[in-house]
Amino acid sequence: MSEHLIIFDTTLRDGEQSPGASMTRDEKVRIAKQLERMRVDIIEAGFPIASPGDFEAVQAVATEVVDSTVCGLARAAEKDIDRAAEALKPAKSARIHTFIATSPIHMQEKLRMSPEQVLERAVWAVKRARQYTDDVEFSPEDAGRSDVDFLCRVLEAVIDAGAGTVNIPDTVGYNLPSRFGRLIGELIERVPNADKAVFSVHCHNDLGLAVANSLAAVQHGARQVECTINGLGERAGNASLEEVVMAVRTRQDVFSCDTRIDTTQIVPASRIVSNITGFPVQPNKAIVGVNAFAHESGIHQDGVIKKRETYEIMRAEDVGWSANRMVLGKHSGRNAFKTRLAQLGIDFRSEEELNSAFSRFKDLADKKHEIFDEDLQALVTEEGLAQENDYVRLVSLKVCSQTGETPTADLTVSVDDAERRASADGGGPVDAAFKAIEKVVESGGELLLYSVSNITTGTDSQGEVTVRLQRGGRIVNGHGADTDIVVASAKAYVNALNKLLVPHERAHPQTSQPI
Ligand code: KIV
Ligand code: ZN
Repeated sequence: MSEHLIIFDTTLRDGEQSPGASMTRDEKVRIAKQLERMRVDIIEAGFPIASPGDFEAVQAVATEVVDSTVCGLARAAEKDIDRAAEALKPAKSARIHTFIATSPIHMQEKLRMSPEQVLERAVWAVKRARQYTDDVEFSPEDAGRSDVDFLCRVLEAVIDAGAGTVNIPDTVGYNLPSRFGRLIGELIERVPNADKAVFSVHCHNDLGLAVANSLAAVQHGARQVECTINGLGERAGNASLEEVVMAVRTRQDVFSCDTRIDTTQIVPASRIVSNITGFPVQPNKAIVGVNAFAHESGIHQDGVIKKRETYEIMRAEDVGWSANRMVLGKHSGRNAFKTRLAQLGIDFRSEEELNSAFSRFKDLADKKHEIFDEDLQALVTEEGLAQENDYVRLVSLKVCSQTGETPTADLTVSVDDAERRASADGGGPVDAAFKAIEKVVESGGELLLYSVSNITTGTDSQGEVTVRLQRGGRIVNGHGADTDIVVASAKAYVNALNKLLVPHERAHPQTSQPI
């Protein structure tokens, strides 16, 4: 019998620490619902002390998610732990994850605490968290560069204090698989009460080894892996969930454990995270890249036609690349629309939401012959994007672009429910449209990223646009989709403005003192 390998997803916490990947509360809930559908065991929803926005997001995820445990991060400090407990109150199953650094460099230079003080605080933090929930995880931050004897003492003490999970982070991605695997084996062997806790790993990808290190740790007894969709995360990212899960599933001859993940939900999860964060997935990315199952060379194609296993170790359908994407068109009814969306894992919260999405579907079907799954996904994302009560709304847009002439844009936007018109010219129609919007809104936001991709193939495909804006050290992403890419661009810009104009203060979990 294979043992259970716990999948702890931290896309909403460590993933969100990628510069530019910040998510709104509703976006976090959308991702969390997809993680739940995918049967992730634990969802780390955020760092509640970081800001009121983070607190609300963790609270919202804790309210909406029922089939996965919801976790909140807290430094080993009273206010952090209390705030995390408060945010997690609505959760059916809640975990508090508390941490303090144990490496010499972090203790001396960052915390300015002695090892004894760190040990004492770690125990105190676990006991405090246990007052709120039986499910407490402890992480010795930068364990990958910590002294092993000291780590053993800390782990023994926190397990005694009530930590049911001890997580070993390679915070700076410094370890190599052989050494990291051995470290986990050694800790499990040397910590006297190791059998009372699950050993977990949390690897960063600075040397491109996060997945390899995690898998080596699993081979040496780790039974929880912390990971993110598309490997999103601080700096070079975290171990990628899809790679860890599929490696363990595909190589059952090597691993004595398996996850409970519904792997067919992997590609939809990857798409949602990529759409929301504006971080594209590289085409050759394992599992979720568009080329991951594409065979270009004639020899490979011939082999696959004769016997798929000649060149494929996994089936594309098993990770959610839909084999036969159902096509809808303008004659499709409400029921077919609703059924297909349900098959794609998208439910509507109300009849009103369904009606409005259906009417957008009909508008799209008028412009576009065939509607594919990707169009439906973009359409419901759009649905969540443009809200009736948005501060800024695009009312109408007219652009003029002609060879030899300067492109111009005339538009009407509604700002706080008052309609205002503006015209501008620019280097191209998109530039002109953005300038016209800025004439009205005057956000002063700096454009960091503008990217357009086609949702499906063909010239009638919808263009999906991501706009990243920065103001006063804050970065936000906006999205828009339309068959007209200038309109999609304007929608994305307006969506970003609605996020930028909302005040939001945020602290980083690893920068400030824990006490
Ligand atoms: O990388 C790290 O050490 C972390 C901890 C908070 C677990 O993210
Ligand atoms: Zn981390």
